Amino acid sequence: MGKDSKSKKSSKKKAPKYIGLDKKGNPPEFPYVRTSTSAIHNNGLFAAQDIPEEEYVIQYLGELIKKKTATARANDQHDRSLVEDVGAVYIFELDDKTDIDGNFEWNIARLANHSCSPNCEAQNVDGEIWLVALRDIKEGEEITFDYGYALEHWKDHPCLCGSDNCVGHIVRKEDWDKLKKLKKRQKKKRA
Ligand SMILES: C[S@@+](CC[C@H](N)C(=O)[O-])C[C@H]1O[C@@H](n2cnc3c(N)ncnc32)[C@H](O)[C@@H]1O
Ligand SMILES: [Zn+2]
Repeated sequence: MGKDSKSKKSSKKKAPKYIGLDKKGNPPEFPYVRTSTSAIHNNGLFAAQDIPEEEYVIQYLGELIKKKTATARANDQHDRSLVEDVGAVYIFELDDKTDIDGNFEWNIARLANHSCSPNCEAQNVDGEIWLVALRDIKEGEEITFDYGYALEHWKDHPCLCGSDNCVGHIVRKEDWDKLKKLKKRQKKKRA
C-alpha cells in the first residue's frame, strides 16, 4: 500500500461523538454540585446547595463508544489505576450497543463515588445518564450512587464508603446476601 492510500484511509477515521455537550462543544453548568477531595476515595462530588428528592443532579457526559472500544479502554484505565492513584474505570453502560467513556476533565460526574447507602441513583433518562436524588440531600453532603457492580470480581473492589450498612465491597445491592454468605464461608475455611 502506497503512502497516499494510507493517509486517505486514516483521514476517513470517524470524528468522536459526545453526549451532553452543547453545540459549541461546551459542558453545561450543573449548579447542584461542586468537586472536592473525598473521605471515600481521592476526589468526589458534593452538593453545592440543598437538593430536593427526585431532582436531576448531574448528567454523565462523555464520548459515545461501541462495546468493543469500551472493553479496550476499560482495560487500559484499569491498568493505569494499578500504578497511579486515579479512579479505575470511567466507562458507563448506556445500552446494549453503546457505552459512555466519561474520562474527560469536563465530565465532573465521573468523580461521584459509590456508597452502600447512596443518596442518588443513576437513571437512563431518554438515552441520557443522570444522577437523580433518592432523598433530600443537604448542602455539603457527598453525592454517591450504587455502582451496581456484579458479584464476580468483588475482591477487587473494597468499599470505603463508611456508611453504617457498608458491606465492605462494591457490589450491587441485589447480590449482598450472596456476598455475605461467600464471606462467611471463606471465614469458616480460614478458621
Ligand atoms: C469513577 S471513579 C470515582 C472518582 C474517584 N474518587 C476519583 O477521584 O477519580 C471510581 C473509582 O473510585 C474509587 N471508589 C469509588 N467509590 C469507592 C468506595 N466506596 N470505596 C473505595 N473506593 C471507591 C475506586 O477506585 C473506583 O474504581
Ligand atoms: Zn460501602
